[in-house]
Amino acid sequence: MVDIPEIDEQHARLFEQLEIFKASCLEHNAVPADEAEALFNALLDHCRTEERLAREAGLDFHRHGEKHATMLHSIRNVLNDMERPGINVFGVIRYIGCWFERHIREEDKNLGLYLRQVPCANQGQRFSEMFPERQFPEQRSAF
Ligand SMILES: [Fe+2]
Repeated sequence: MVDIPEIDEQHARLFEQLEIFKASCLEHNAVPADEAEALFNALLDHCRTEERLAREAGLDFHRHGEKHATMLHSIRNVLNDMERPGINVFGVIRYIGCWFERHIREEDKNLGLYLRQVPCANQGQRFSEMFPERQFPEQRSAF
């Protein structure tokens, strides 16, 4: 959990989708191309969500975004290869699951932490608007 509802819901759905994809591969003894594409699109949408939330909060997402791009490229390459005979589909599914778990631990938890701090920063701004620095009249000379 990263404690950002939109991100947590997407993570939960992605793990669910990965399990369904795995079951489907077992059932058909093949890779259902449409489900593979749906999984890739869900991953893409999720990366876009995190990027949007970071941008809206004014966070630097460069390094995190590069990790997403690397992951998406490698998964894309694997999916393009999936129909090749002899490919280890379950190895690929395991790779996606492990990558995702590690990424949530190492990157998304920090993103959640920063995103949760943003309303506090706004709160500070609002306080300074509510209580502007007092202007004191010029001190009168005692003489
Ligand atoms: Fe991420």
